[in-house]
Amino acid sequence: MSTAARSTRETVGHASDLAVGSMKLARVGERRIVVVRTPSGIHALDNACPHQGYGLVTGSLDGELLTCQWHNWKYRVSDGVCVIGEENVPCHGVEVIDDEVIVTVVEPTVDEQRAVLWPSLRSGIEKDYQGQVARDALRLLGTAVSPTAIIWEGVKLGAPRNEWGLGHEMATSADCLALAGELGGERAKTAIVQALSGLAEATRAYPARPLPEADGSIDLVAAIEAEDHTAAMARVVADVRSGRPVTDVATDFIEAVSRHHYDYGHGAIYTQKAFELLAEVAHTEAEHLLPHLAATLAWGTREDTLPYMNKAMAELDGVDLDAVAAGGGPGDDAARDVMVATLLDAPEAPIAAAARFAAAGAGVTGLLDAVTLAVSYRLLRHDLDLEFRLDDPFGWLDITHGLTYSRAARWAWGVHPSPAAARLALFTVWLAHDTGRGERRNHVAAPVEGAPSDLSLGEAILRRDESAAVGAALDGGMTEVTRAMAEASLYDHAGSFIVQAHLIKTARAAGEEAATIGSSIPLAAAARFLAAPRLERFAARNAVESDHFISTGRPPLR
Ligand code: FES
Repeated sequence: MSTAARSTRETVGHASDLAVGSMKLARVGERRIVVVRTPSGIHALDNACPHQGYGLVTGSLDGELLTCQWHNWKYRVSDGVCVIGEENVPCHGVEVIDDEVIVTVVEPTVDEQRAVLWPSLRSGIEKDYQGQVARDALRLLGTAVSPTAIIWEGVKLGAPRNEWGLGHEMATSADCLALAGELGGERAKTAIVQALSGLAEATRAYPARPLPEADGSIDLVAAIEAEDHTAAMARVVADVRSGRPVTDVATDFIEAVSRHHYDYGHGAIYTQKAFELLAEVAHTEAEHLLPHLAATLAWGTREDTLPYMNKAMAELDGVDLDAVAAGGGPGDDAARDVMVATLLDAPEAPIAAAARFAAAGAGVTGLLDAVTLAVSYRLLRHDLDLEFRLDDPFGWLDITHGLTYSRAARWAWGVHPSPAAARLALFTVWLAHDTGRGERRNHVAAPVEGAPSDLSLGEAILRRDESAAVGAALDGGMTEVTRAMAEASLYDHAGSFIVQAHLIKTARAAGEEAATIGSSIPLAAAARFLAAPRLERFAARNAVESDHFISTGRPPLR
């Protein structure tokens, strides 16, 4: 369509009637326009403020600046640039012919709208302007840009900027993208905005980590083991640029991530989420993500090198991983329930018992079933008194990782069924045991069993009625509960992004694990986590911990 065909040209008044410093409202075609006269001339801008749509004509003029009185955003009238506030306001052409003020509005094509919206979205993310990010994302959606493209733009911007590699913002983006597709409609919009919100908060305008020169001669596992993030990234750059099959690249990552118990399980969780995200987007986009995953692992804490894992590591070193990997599975429910009880009650991480259980017929899949169920029971009996004790750092998030880690190990096993993936599954056994350290330090609380209620699952979660939420999760059909839980996880019911991220990730992992195992227990566990009171910010706890350290020189309780 030509510009002429899209343009509307109308006389909106007489220049002699417009004093310098005055404004008037006009209509040009379908648009409401504010016509402004300043010392520099006559200008025309959209009347709707890009913030919330209030009329700019009710604002005030100060020289060349127009202030929207509603929230004090200020626009330069000559070009619509927002000098205090967020997005710019569209400007229109003005001619004065024989005292007539003529405004021409050219309706932008979809491509022209996008050309303005993409940079605006990126700017909003870099500044962590949450409102701008939401508005621009939904404006882009209105121009038929896909949820995938919008979320991926945020990930591309964020992945190189997170200081220590990928974090919860990437993992949450993967889940939100999946949820946008599954839930559709209004909930898809919420999922997109939740994803971008996390990316904006976590990465902002930190300097981007540059990609090194590709080097296919480097061994990825060895580079990560050596904590050489540049070498690890160089290998991955070579892989993705040469078009190496993605399963082969994933296999290398699984080999690397199974060497250690990384960052409370986050190494494996981020690996799973990064590859799931790429599967949704396109593997050809891997260069924007996977090199940064390699850096994440190179920088990750190897928890298995810490003293509290010594016994478990000694047991793990004695395990025949080939036998575990060859164990078949998932075995029968009675044996699984015995393993669940062992995971819950053993005084030390039952690594050798878990390996025997897997090798005897449960296999890695049966072992992960048991891990998921054990961690779910821990979630159902987490003592809320402990949650709010500031001198004890143990809390909900420590337990939820047990569930997402188990899910990540199952993904790894699906991609690369191997001794390496078997080893990763045994790390989840250790974490399942470690998720009980709060119980072991204090006491085992009675599990919340759930009570009949008229509340739907979503209502119960919003009203923080944990008993009703657990009851609804146990009583409902698994598919419906999974969907309701996913929707509820997108509500704004966390005070910080890190907690919101865990709500989304746990709800999703619980739904997937419930479907895999054929049990509603993971759903009930996640329902309780979403509904129950929880510590949501960590400033007060940081104060107590810091005070303890500074005054005694001793580390925090673990
Ligand atoms: S509506 Fe104009 S600044 Fe808020």
